[in-house]
Amino acid sequence: MIILRNISKAYHAQAKSIEALRDINLHVAPGEIFGIIGKSGAGKSTLIRCVNLLEKPTQGQVIVHGEELTALPLADLRKARRKIGMIFQYFNLLSTRTVYDNIAFPLELAGLKKSARAAIIDPLLELTGLSDKKNAFPAQLSGGQKQRVAIARALAPQPHVLLCDEATSALDPETTHSILQLLKNIRDRMNVTILLITHEMSVIKACCDRVGILEQGHLIEDNEVGEFFAYPKTEIAKNFIFSSLPQTLPPAISQYLLPTATSDTHPVLRLRFLPDTATQPIISQLINQFGLGINILQGNVEYVKKHAMGVMLVAVSGEKNALHSGMQHLKNIGVDAEVIGHVPNDIIPFT
Ligand SMILES: Nc1ncnc2c1ncn2[C@@H]1O[C@H](COP(=O)(O)OP(=O)(O)OP(=O)(O)O)[C@@H](O)[C@H]1O
Ligand SMILES: [Mg+2]
Repeated sequence: MIILRNISKAYHAQAKSIEALRDINLHVAPGEIFGIIGKSGAGKSTLIRCVNLLEKPTQGQVIVHGEELTALPLADLRKARRKIGMIFQYFNLLSTRTVYDNIAFPLELAGLKKSARAAIIDPLLELTGLSDKKNAFPAQLSGGQKQRVAIARALAPQPHVLLCDEATSALDPETTHSILQLLKNIRDRMNVTILLITHEMSVIKACCDRVGILEQGHLIEDNEVGEFFAYPKTEIAKNFIFSSLPQTLPPAISQYLLPTATSDTHPVLRLRFLPDTATQPIISQLINQFGLGINILQGNVEYVKKHAMGVMLVAVSGEKNALHSGMQHLKNIGVDAEVIGHVPNDIIPFT
């Protein structure tokens, strides 16, 4: 369990003060996977480093597994930190040690005997799928395997909490998927509380129970993942949600897209819909109620838990007033509708 109360952090650099975190309140329940998403510079790494006090907050309280870390003397803080695992984007393995010895490292520091270390490390090699790599050196491993070693090493001291700073950002999509599956598996089997930060919505979708958005040091959203996708509170949240869906036209069409209408063009609309509107028959409404012709150029609908959401690009034919009314209707029912350009008749014919 992680609780942050009124956490602020200011950096002082070259006579300037940078407010990296501003009055953050966060509650991560035991066994929960909480994802924080935000743009570069939003304060994500600062936030995660404040949890184990690698970065000392300017103000506020950090409570992990019932213990207020911000109130501990240094010796006790060191002890508490052993129960907080951390993994990073670039793995941070010791290149002169084998896989086994990398995982053993924190246990050696804690003074465990060889046999006690083995009793912990062997099951972790199994869990992370590294049993046949235990004598390999990091240079002989793929990125995904290196991250598995880093995860096993972080879990060796049997932490209550695992912090992941962009742990999959250096990995390809397939390897990312397998690492996220591993994190879920770890949570299910060991009941570890996981706080992860990412700039990719797909990571949140794949493995988080809750999500927060960090924007210029403010936590502007904090919600259960399904609710977050169904009812984003801010434009920034919406943009993050749709960022994982393709929403540009294929080059075969986009190369002909014009910024302004002429007598020989049709407007192209981008329709973005969230779960509460995704089930409405919006295309047939545009055709039947507003007399518009619709040519679907691209469409993506995805499901997060039981919620559908999507982006559709359509060329539209019809009277200007009908188009205006149709777009107004879409807005009224909560569909984002935007004209992104105009396509010539001979590229997308309607007859
Ligand atoms: N040690 C430091 N000294 C001064 N300013 C810092 C320091 N570390 C971070 N900052 C500043 O604090 C802000 C937040 O940085 P942080 O690294 O937490 O962002 P981030 O969300 O992790 O970004 P990224 O996605 O690029 O990793 C930025 O404006 C950054 O320049
Ligand atoms: Mg960062």
